[in-house]
Amino acid sequence: MSRDLAPPAPSRFRRFWGLAPGTVFLNHGSFGACPRAILELQAELRERMEAEPVQFLWRHYDEQLEASRAAVARFVGAEPRDLVFVTNATTGVNAVARSLKLKRGDQLLTTNQDYNACRNVLAETARRAGARLVVAPVPLPLRSPDQVIEAVLRCVTRRTRLAFIDHVTSPTALVLPVWRLVRELEGRGVPTLVDGAHAPGMVPLDLEKLGPAYYTGNLHKWVCAPKGAALLWVRRDRQPGLEPAVISHGNNTPRPGYSPFQDRFDWPGTFDPTSWLCAGEALAWLGRRLPGGWKELYRHNRLLAVQARRLLCQRLHLEPPCPEEMLGAMATLPLPERFQGLPRNGKIDAEQLRLYDQFRIEVPFMRFGLPERRYFRFSAQLYNSLPEYAFLARALDVL
Ligand SMILES: Cc1ncc(COP(=O)(O)O)c(C=O)c1O
Repeated sequence: MSRDLAPPAPSRFRRFWGLAPGTVFLNHGSFGACPRAILELQAELRERMEAEPVQFLWRHYDEQLEASRAAVARFVGAEPRDLVFVTNATTGVNAVARSLKLKRGDQLLTTNQDYNACRNVLAETARRAGARLVVAPVPLPLRSPDQVIEAVLRCVTRRTRLAFIDHVTSPTALVLPVWRLVRELEGRGVPTLVDGAHAPGMVPLDLEKLGPAYYTGNLHKWVCAPKGAALLWVRRDRQPGLEPAVISHGNNTPRPGYSPFQDRFDWPGTFDPTSWLCAGEALAWLGRRLPGGWKELYRHNRLLAVQARRLLCQRLHLEPPCPEEMLGAMATLPLPERFQGLPRNGKIDAEQLRLYDQFRIEVPFMRFGLPERRYFRFSAQLYNSLPEYAFLARALDVL
């Protein structure tokens, strides 16, 4: 590697994470990254679990889970009785979609910017019932959030039984106008399932006020909990009839003080619950890193993403595909022209692999739209710094 392409000094917060030295990790979005302190807590919990498996997993499980659930519920503006842990957002979407009682001819509504795994759940649910999956075409580039509202509402019909709305889209990293979407859709009698896979810890949440029928979100991404921690919040009128993806003891074993919804979800069979138990502490730990707490962290990460996008657009002569008001802590940009039109040649694009192998930069490349365009997405977490994006710009220039 030439000298002017030596990696930049990392942010002062990087030492709190165990990310491999010499790597430039600009892909918090895909799987998150858990800080050392939280992994140590998880290791302690695992030791306790293996020392006294029955005491840990059966006798004291509920009280330990409750402390973490209460902290997460407070963080997302919910009451604990309406919130359960699930392993990931995919599981949350499965529980909701597969509990729907659909009839032939019914419609499920999603957008073209949804996440492939979740699209598959909706498509399979629709197929089994003889229902139809309708995909609203949200344009890209996009000038205003109004275009999202228009694209979605235009596809609502009398047969729409559920609208699936991403809070933050995966391929395009747009923060969608969920407040307006939920209000408009629920106001038309269309229940909404918000896929907030990226939202907790990236944007402030107030689920009671937002009031969708269902909301699922990951805690292992922007809350930095260990992998396997996510939430599912369900509005009270929608809780009866909602089955978890895995049916277990809870269906006939009520516990005093718990909602039937919690009973059904809290024990999905023997598993390692330590990521759920760590979620509350992960929230508290990350919230203590900046003097202004979570409010400052939201602002910090968003500002870093905005500044990084300006820098990359300027250095690589790129047109941003959406206004800054639609950004959270990630952004997607089109790859420079010389990357366009090349065929896909494996699970991960060859240039993405080269970016890592030559420069140790982790950034996902994606393909989107018709005709297909190629994009890259970068994330901004506390352990990132602006010089890392300048390094990415130089690397993309010579790749
Ligand atoms: C919008 C969206 N939904 C769902 C998921 C799935 O998350 P998980 O793999 O944790 O279930 C992702 C993952 O990145 C995502 O971006």
